[in-house]
Amino acid sequence: MVDNPAEEEVSSVSPLNTAGANGARRNIGPPTRVPQSAANPTRTANTRNPRPIRVPPASAGVPAAGNRPPVPRPGGPPRNPGPVRGTPRPGVRPPHVHYKPAKVSLLRRLCVPITTVVLVLASLVVIGILIKVVMDNYYYFCIKSFKFIPLDKWCDGQADCAGNEDELRCVQRVDFSNTTIVRLSDSGSILQILTSSRTWSYICSDGFNAASAKAACAEIGYSSKPTFSSVSAASLNGQFSNVQITDSEIQVVPISGTCASGSVISLSCIDCGSNHKKERIIGGQETSIENSPWQVSLQYMGQHSCGGSILTPRFILSAAHCFQKGQQQVDRWRVESGHSRLTYTFASQVDKIFIPTSYILDQKPNDIAILKLKSDLSFSAGVEPICLPGFDSNLQPGASLTVTGWGHTVEGGGAVASTLQEVIISLIPNAVCNQEYFGQITENMMCAGQLSGGKDTCQGDSGGPLVSLGPNSRIQQNGVVSWGDGCGRKNKVGVYTKVVPYLQWVTSIMKVEL
Ligand code: ARG
Repeated sequence: MVDNPAEEEVSSVSPLNTAGANGARRNIGPPTRVPQSAANPTRTANTRNPRPIRVPPASAGVPAAGNRPPVPRPGGPPRNPGPVRGTPRPGVRPPHVHYKPAKVSLLRRLCVPITTVVLVLASLVVIGILIKVVMDNYYYFCIKSFKFIPLDKWCDGQADCAGNEDELRCVQRVDFSNTTIVRLSDSGSILQILTSSRTWSYICSDGFNAASAKAACAEIGYSSKPTFSSVSAASLNGQFSNVQITDSEIQVVPISGTCASGSVISLSCIDCGSNHKKERIIGGQETSIENSPWQVSLQYMGQHSCGGSILTPRFILSAAHCFQKGQQQVDRWRVESGHSRLTYTFASQVDKIFIPTSYILDQKPNDIAILKLKSDLSFSAGVEPICLPGFDSNLQPGASLTVTGWGHTVEGGGAVASTLQEVIISLIPNAVCNQEYFGQITENMMCAGQLSGGKDTCQGDSGGPLVSLGPNSRIQQNGVVSWGDGCGRKNKVGVYTKVVPYLQWVTSIMKVEL
């Protein structure tokens, strides 16, 4: 090859071979010129010892030449590529031939591979999305055992993956263990602690300090800075005790008679239920989140599914029936807070979901749930906790209650409300409610609405808070939206899970999970 001038000639115009041909093998011109012309085929045509450009013979075996356009001949159309003929006559300048710049030619060469790569990548992305859609809707992938299982086997209570992997991040059932030894009364938020003889005792203000308050609040799952005050013990009957803190746990030291100071402790574990406000849900009206900053939206796979309420920066109260069969995968839930309009962007991730052991799927009793978030909510005007009622809270029939949510504004209405709705309803005695609901209303449920119909909660409001103004002028949550026959029908008022019977259940979970 090196000795074949024809081949050399061809090589010299091949952008890919120029350097080798000019610089290494041909001794034309000073070596310093070589690198310049190497990158520029047009320069090659003007070298000092020019020779006419020739097209390689088909059989010459020069790799890149076949891809080049035929070189134009002066004074006529380009000749068909043919065999290389003789050596050029010395002293005859070659026609001024311009080749397409190397860059264009390079681009052309790269065009096909680049397009192929782009197409392959695009197809991979599309295939990936399809696989994800299929996976999200039909399969769960067991990472450890590298196996697919049908989606309905995920969180079905039976291990289908190695190491129980498919059952690890699911809704958990928690018993009524009654582990909390602290409770607060409704009026005055008076602190009581369970003694070793299992009687509830008032706590004297004697020696009670910030550490005692912190320890008492931790017992019911609150870690915020508590506030406390002394109230007169004069009207109280029962056991009185002092407290002592051992290893940051609170312990009662019963005393005989009443407190030396004559006063007991009133405790507030969190600044909750601020009364900012002075009034579809069905028959309701739009409200803003600042009026109900404890209201949250529970979203399953990016869709509003239920309401909920903020108890602490970490814990949300809702309804057990929100976590139906097939919707028990904790990681698919998000909690959206702080927005009047339903949004899906800033949602908090969920760490754990608890429902009572006694809750039976698709049945009405014990319809309550606690969600533990992965990180603390930061409180603001639109994000605040609601107060839990005192253990002895007892609403009077006809009491005014407010309920909020993004649920349907018409029975069977296709979409949830885009802006938070609120409606004011009244407490209907269980006896009245049970006449219409054929005895399904248990002690742990309460009814609220308007017997004439038209004001009610509806699908999508479930889990949301039914609240009232408490005796301490703070808003407290009395019920959780649970069920009803249709929405807003005459004599078919909404049914709510009472919060009071579940206080121990709620606070013991918060305590353990604090
Ligand atoms: N179960 C419904 C939900 O999942 C709430 C129904 C309330 N019904 C009523 N009539 N108040 O959102």
